[in-house]
Amino acid sequence: MIPSCESKSMDSWGRFLLLILCILPAMVECRVRHYKFNVVMKNYTRLCSSKSIVTINGKFPGPTLYAREDDTVLVRVNNHVNVNVTIHWHGVRQLRTGWSDGPAYVTQCPIQPGQSFLYNFTLTGQRGTLLYHAHVNWLRSTVHGAMVILPKREVPYPFPKPDDELVVVLGEWWKSDTEAVINEALKSGLAPNVSDAHTINGLPGTVANCSSQDVYNLPVEKGKTYLLRLVNAGLNEELFFKIAGHTLTVVEVDATYVKPFKIDTVIIAPGQTTNFLLDADQKSGKYLVAVSPFMDAPVAVDNVTATATVHYTGTLAANPTIVTNPPPKNATQVANKFTDSLKSLNSKTYPAKVPLKIDHSLFFTVGLGINPCRSCKAANGSRVVASVNNVTFVMPTTALLQAHYFNISGVFTTDFPANPPHAFNYTGAGPANLQTASGTKLYRLPFNSTVQLVLQDTGIIAPESHPIHLHGFNFFVVGRGVGNYDPKNDPKNFNLDDPVERNTIGLPSGGWTAIRFRADNPGVWFMHCHFEVHTTWGLKMAFLVDNGKGPKQSLIPPPKDLPKC
Ligand code: C2O
Repeated sequence: MIPSCESKSMDSWGRFLLLILCILPAMVECRVRHYKFNVVMKNYTRLCSSKSIVTINGKFPGPTLYAREDDTVLVRVNNHVNVNVTIHWHGVRQLRTGWSDGPAYVTQCPIQPGQSFLYNFTLTGQRGTLLYHAHVNWLRSTVHGAMVILPKREVPYPFPKPDDELVVVLGEWWKSDTEAVINEALKSGLAPNVSDAHTINGLPGTVANCSSQDVYNLPVEKGKTYLLRLVNAGLNEELFFKIAGHTLTVVEVDATYVKPFKIDTVIIAPGQTTNFLLDADQKSGKYLVAVSPFMDAPVAVDNVTATATVHYTGTLAANPTIVTNPPPKNATQVANKFTDSLKSLNSKTYPAKVPLKIDHSLFFTVGLGINPCRSCKAANGSRVVASVNNVTFVMPTTALLQAHYFNISGVFTTDFPANPPHAFNYTGAGPANLQTASGTKLYRLPFNSTVQLVLQDTGIIAPESHPIHLHGFNFFVVGRGVGNYDPKNDPKNFNLDDPVERNTIGLPSGGWTAIRFRADNPGVWFMHCHFEVHTTWGLKMAFLVDNGKGPKQSLIPPPKDLPKC
């Protein structure tokens, strides 16, 4: 079990001994952080209209969770709303604690109305910014927040110490209820509506047709340096982030340090995080922050730019704001410039442990498809679906991790294909038959095996960028390109030295990305597109990682209060 200074189940002698250990100064850092998340409805007015949304503790975005590397985090989630809830700690490795990962029907049954669950995990080998969000239906549109993992006490950042830190959570706002939006789409077989605005820490900024001033202010003092922790908690859109007149120094993504680089526009996909230093080195004044969508394929997006202001202290409110133009939505080069600059810090203290010998070489096509649907009148008797290797994933009604742990048969199979059923010109017009197969198929990996996974976008219906997220692991992004992956020549250009390490990677539209990871975490781990619409359509699968033979290489037993389906 996870050691915990305040473990309730421990007898008094055990607690006494641990207390002694904990007060031995600086010898053992032993910390448990307790959080209480009450899931409650709250009324919010945005874009000049009001609606009631599901929130954590009445906040949108939810409260920032602060902890330190090596801390154990205990979050009591009480469900006071009338829908099912789970919380996913996006990017937390959850070493052997898959029960606390959070995706509904993958690692747990949802927390039903009136019920509660205690998430219990330890932050091992990670420091930086991550996010948490609901992981059932489309609830994460309003149930999300930032997680800040500070380095261990006395351990400095590997970059100049900032004077202050600010958390910036980006989101999407719908005037209507998001569950209604997706249910409507599933009925029709067509794509769901896009959001009505983007938000910066919950506020859209000045928008047309609404005179209320929902503008977020980032207060800065001239001459100081700030660490901004940027999170994209939105549902369906990659976003550009830009501050007028300022250059940003990127130092970390997805809670791993990168070689610092300077840039004026950040691209951030749903589920990703980016830390950068902001030097308040300009003339005192107000500077526009612009957040706008990136989409370089013929796919509808919410084209409303969200705005905030960086406000130097002492600037008069009446002063005009210094503005900037966001990049056009199809600015592939702006996005590439950022993505191509990302390299692991790969220092002595923070080495990039890229697997060099590969046990499992996988090739997954990801994209859309069209299946028959009799009731889908709007789409002429068909519906849009999505798949990985032509398998549209079917969510089970028993959580996969429980089925695995308790040997419940009939819930899933382990025959997820390592390759697509047949080769075709992936980024071309696509095959004549766009129909997909379906099933609850997992890919099984022995403990500690190494994996290379090439993710290939398809041009079926439309090529599109897909932010693919893997639970339970970080991976190294060793290569990336446009068109069809060439297994003979492309590996020659792989970066096996200092590739960026992350948990969510945006596939280029009509291109491919190669990732590598070590399967050193036993359990069932979801992998899916972090565009919620694509997850709903079936762009998801899971890896089953076996226990190892060593002492600390098995999944821990499930907690007693694990929700029942
Ligand atoms: Cu951030 Cu499976 O999700």
